[in-house]
This record gives sequence, C-alpha cells and structure tokens, in this order.
Amino acid sequence: MNKFKVAIDGPAGSGKSTIAKEIAKIFNLYYLDSGALYRAFGYYLKKHGFDLHNENDIINALKSFDIKIIDGDYYLFDEKLDFQIRTPEIGKAASIVAKNPHVREKVNNILRKIAKNNGVVIDGRDIGTVVLPDAEIKIFLTASIKERAERRYKELIEKGENVKFEDILKDIEKRDKADSTRKIAPLKPADDAIIVDTTGKDIKTVVNEIKNIIVSKMNME
Ligand code: DC
Repeated sequence: MNKFKVAIDGPAGSGKSTIAKEIAKIFNLYYLDSGALYRAFGYYLKKHGFDLHNENDIINALKSFDIKIIDGDYYLFDEKLDFQIRTPEIGKAASIVAKNPHVREKVNNILRKIAKNNGVVIDGRDIGTVVLPDAEIKIFLTASIKERAERRYKELIEKGENVKFEDILKDIEKRDKADSTRKIAPLKPADDAIIVDTTGKDIKTVVNEIKNIIVSKMNME
C-alpha cells in the first residue's frame, strides 16, 4: 500500500466519490468518504428522533454515535449503511449537522485516525483545508451547477428514486450556498489545491488527469 494522502474536495455532484474511489484503486490507497459520515450522523439523529437543530440533542447523540468501517462499508452499529443515507432528505440533514463544530470534530477524528496509519484518498469539502492540511495531493473538483444536478438526477433515477430535476437543481443550489457560506470549515479550495473542472468530461478523462497530477507530483514515473 502507498503511504501518501490525497484530498479531493468539491461541491455536491462534482463527481468526487466516483473519482476518489478510482484513484484509490489505481494507487492502492484507502478510500474514505467523509460526506458519508455526516450523512450517517444525520440519519442516526432522525432515526432516533433527535432534533437536528438542537445543540443538546446533537451532543447527546454524539455520545452514543459509533461508526465502523469494514472493507469500505460503513456500519452504524449492526446496520450497513447504503441507500438509506443517499436520499435528498439525509443529504439535507447532513448539511445541517455539518455546521456543528462537535460533529465536525468527531468526523475529523475518525478520518485522521485512519489517515495516520494508511495512505488515503478522502473526499469531502474541507479535507485539503482542515482535515489533512499536510496531504501531498490536494484536488478541488468543480463542474457547472446544471451538469452537477443532471448527474445527481440520473444517479437517483437509476436507483429507482422518484425525484424531479427541478427539485434536485434547487437542492444543489441550496446545499452549495449552505456549504460554502458556513462559518466553520466552508467549502473552498486550499491555497495549494489544483482545481480540476469536470464540466463536459467523462469519469475516465478526469481520473486520468488526476492520475497524471499524482504521478508527476510524487515522482512516480
Ligand atoms: O458529499 P456529500 O453530499 O455526501 O455530503 C453530505 C453533506 O455533508 C454536505 O452537504 C456537506 C457535508 N460535508 C461537510 O460539511 N464536510 C465534508 N468534508 C463532507 C461533507
């Protein structure tokens, strides 16, 4: 296994997770999806009737919240998390709880603990700026809002969800605003991040672009 760290940040629908997974495979690195941890916590709160907007509820829920990552799958106690954390409703919940500093600390600790002993690719919003400021490679993915909404729409339709394009577009706009204007760890590229615009490019092209960046930066040729 390689030992370096790759941070891949960007807004919703920029293709982060698909691309990050591919990069992890190519370079034999451990893949971590930080958004899944915020989603898992939002799901946990909702499932147990906690109030997403109540600080005491959040602090209490954090005491019992435990997530295990086994072979790339995320488990909330015995429950394997999959489609149930991928709904627009849980996306919204994740965006709300992600504003809380205690939640961010918990998620960051989980991520850093794994990154301490492994080469990793982590995708998220603040990986290059906050979670792994010392990552050897920092990528910031962008794409036009229309294209991001189209990708998310297609993904949900393929999963059999009953969604409208206009709703997804509005949802992404709202989430972009919430994620980039919040006070703590807002969505923004690190000063030393390389910006990769994925508009009009397929996954293979973007993966190749990033692969080349890593090969040249890590002198792997
Ligand atoms: O990438 P995603 O859609 O699964 O992320 C869900 C939410 O979690 C998103 O609205 C913002 C939040 N998030 C965050 O604040 N910081 C991260 N590193 C990852 C996700």
